[in-house]
Amino acid sequence: MPSRRRNETARPFLKWAGGKTQLLAQFEVLYPQPSQVKRYLEPFVGSAAVFFHIRNLYQPEEGVLADSNAELINAYRAIQQEVEKVIRLLAKHRKAHSREHYYRIRANRPSEMSCAELAARTIYLNKTCFNGLYRVNSRGGFNVPIGRYEDPPILDAPNLRAASAALHGVELREGHFRDTLRYARKGDFIYFDPPYQPLSSTAYFTAYTRNSFGPADQEELAEVFRLLNDRGCRVMLSNSDTALIRRLYRGFDLRTVDARRSINSKANRRGAITEIVVLNYEPPESRARETPSRTQRADPRPVQSEKRSRRSMKQRRTQTAVHP
Ligand SMILES: C[S@@+](CC[C@H](N)C(=O)[O-])C[C@H]1O[C@@H](n2cnc3c(N)ncnc32)[C@H](O)[C@@H]1O
Repeated sequence: MPSRRRNETARPFLKWAGGKTQLLAQFEVLYPQPSQVKRYLEPFVGSAAVFFHIRNLYQPEEGVLADSNAELINAYRAIQQEVEKVIRLLAKHRKAHSREHYYRIRANRPSEMSCAELAARTIYLNKTCFNGLYRVNSRGGFNVPIGRYEDPPILDAPNLRAASAALHGVELREGHFRDTLRYARKGDFIYFDPPYQPLSSTAYFTAYTRNSFGPADQEELAEVFRLLNDRGCRVMLSNSDTALIRRLYRGFDLRTVDARRSINSKANRRGAITEIVVLNYEPPESRARETPSRTQRADPRPVQSEKRSRRSMKQRRTQTAVHP
């Protein structure tokens, strides 16, 4: 996926629940070596924060981005193929933006819109709705109310053009994460960022709604992870730090990263929490620690490796060949 505009740095153009922008500095030391990232797959792409990061750092030759959200994949397709049209449509939305305009656009039927019109609607509603939420009703209609913004950033044309260049040659797929088994090949680098397992049991009830991602999905994903490991792919996965996730990925290298996200609307109950990153390969950062003469990357944020994961890495080195 060589880009036509190599010098621009693309960033996510959508706000997305679970977006990984704040974790990128900690993730950077966990990616495989640049020479090992020739084909990059991201089956829960969301706002593509990790894709743009990897794309800017490594410029992989090929990429596949997928998500079960059809509207999201449509937006990437339109930005990839007709970015100037989307920019013109967004400029119109920016000019017309008001409460009335928001609800009129929200009421439009996606099935009657072109790819570019729907993408412009998706971006416009995402930038102006309450908290950048994406929520649909039982008939699939977007139903988030308008947010309270003085001057919402409806159009960032330079970033949309940079994103279009970054998406050049990338394969975009709407679909379930298990489809990865159909297109992943030995040697691919795959990053999985599923909807996280809720930290509290009460959250489970709210998770059991349309399109929810429950424990059975987490189990299936762990099975997909194992199959891709057996195939010789390099796989990285993030999730919440819970007993279920630790059990599902036992035997792989489990790291923790500091998420510092607001988990509670009450300020005094917000704070640092850790999230888990599962790896089936040894990242260059650990090799640098083991071989002090190697140059370490500048200013890596500390990533705590678990004693247990060191043991399991050792076991895997002796028991199974996980590297392609
Ligand atoms: C945590 S978000 C990914 C966030 C992304 N890493 C980012 O930086 O914005 C999870 C994504 O998984 C998608 N998703 C949920 N269930 C899925 C499934 N069964 N298969 C594929 N994608 C799914 C959602 O639409 C959502 O975009």
